[in-house]
Amino acid sequence: MNILVTGGAGYIGSHTCIELLNAGYDIVVVDNLDNSNIKAIDTIKRLTGKDFPFYQYDMLEADKMEEIFANNKIDGVIHFAGLKAVGESTQIPLRYYHNNITGTLILMQLMEKYDVNNIVFSSSATVYGMPKTVPITEDFPLSTTNPYGSTKLMIEGIMTDASKANPKLSVTLLRYFNPIGAHKSGDLGEDPKGIPNNLLPYVAQVAVGKLEKVHVYGSDYPTVDGTGVRDYIHVVDLALGHLRALEHCSDKEGVHIYNLGTGNGYSVLQIVDAFSKACGKELPYVIDPRRPGDIAECYADAAKAKNELGWVATRGIAEMCEDTWRWQSKHPNGFDD
Ligand code: NAD
Ligand code: WQD
Repeated sequence: MNILVTGGAGYIGSHTCIELLNAGYDIVVVDNLDNSNIKAIDTIKRLTGKDFPFYQYDMLEADKMEEIFANNKIDGVIHFAGLKAVGESTQIPLRYYHNNITGTLILMQLMEKYDVNNIVFSSSATVYGMPKTVPITEDFPLSTTNPYGSTKLMIEGIMTDASKANPKLSVTLLRYFNPIGAHKSGDLGEDPKGIPNNLLPYVAQVAVGKLEKVHVYGSDYPTVDGTGVRDYIHVVDLALGHLRALEHCSDKEGVHIYNLGTGNGYSVLQIVDAFSKACGKELPYVIDPRRPGDIAECYADAAKAKNELGWVATRGIAEMCEDTWRWQSKHPNGFDD
């Protein structure tokens, strides 16, 4: 089976490419490297010992995207490509809508033209907005709090409408919780540009000495220790969830929706503690005010993916931090080292 991976040079896409190749899939990757590095592609090839076509194209360029479909027999698509920074999306919303929505429309029109009938999409727990309770099941009400999240919810709707109109189409919407961790080699991991927005890359850069201390956003939430609780999931577990989704859903028409999380929540201070153990030193932190828009707790009910896909996340928080630390300490400046 030949899978087109959009955004395959990015953090989650690159780890998924490795698992796809190791499982015997063929892949074709497209990424404009807007938020990634060509070295990720070289590393995928080196770690797997396998070659594949890579197109440094922008998904917004329909002619170039068509070249990929015309020159490769594509059996299915995993669609990671998109802009993903919540804060930035409030500053340049039109770019987010154009990139994420138009890119998806071009992709899906080409799928229709070339009779490619299955797609797995990177959605997000952000589509649950401000959930009233936890754990979150797939049938919770959907809403969004920022343009990035709105692009995810709109794309879910676009894909659902497309599947109603095309009975052959299989759509799988995977709602990720908080992906962290890195490949065991320590040579592939998250490489954010500039100062990280997300907790784990920030903590990792404090550990390696690039940032001074962790800023904990709020300690007065109704949680175990007052700090925000999230469902952190190892990126390799997440990658494997895509393989299970492809195996299970690709020949089943309609829309299939799964949370990909562990079902466990950890607080910010528990993460700082786990990372301190992984890197062997106490990490300095300071308590700051809450970050606007944050919720107290967010974690998955992961039962549906377990029952229907036979998928569970097996890597715990210690392993997530150890693997992040191996990547960060081996490559303090990410792929530029
Ligand atoms: P990432 O930025 O590392 O990867 C996305 C990739 O898409 C990048 O390599 C980028 O260069 C590429 N891209 C963006 N726009 C493109 C375009 N127009 N044409 C071609 N390539 C383009 O992000 P990630 O963390 O690997 O996330 C992958 C997907 O998962 C995204 O859709 C993201 O919204 C979603 N997601 C991520 C998280 C998370 O916390 N990392 C959580 C939930 C969902
Ligand atoms: C985690 C916790 C913060 C940074 C975001 C997106 C979501 C999804 C995953 C894509 C929170 C706290 C953070 C810091 C801190 N992405 N924190 N200091 O906000 O759960 O989710 O990424 O779909 O849509 O919103 O992740 O890593 O930013 O925050 O105290 O420097 O860490 O308040 O409690 P979040 P995060």
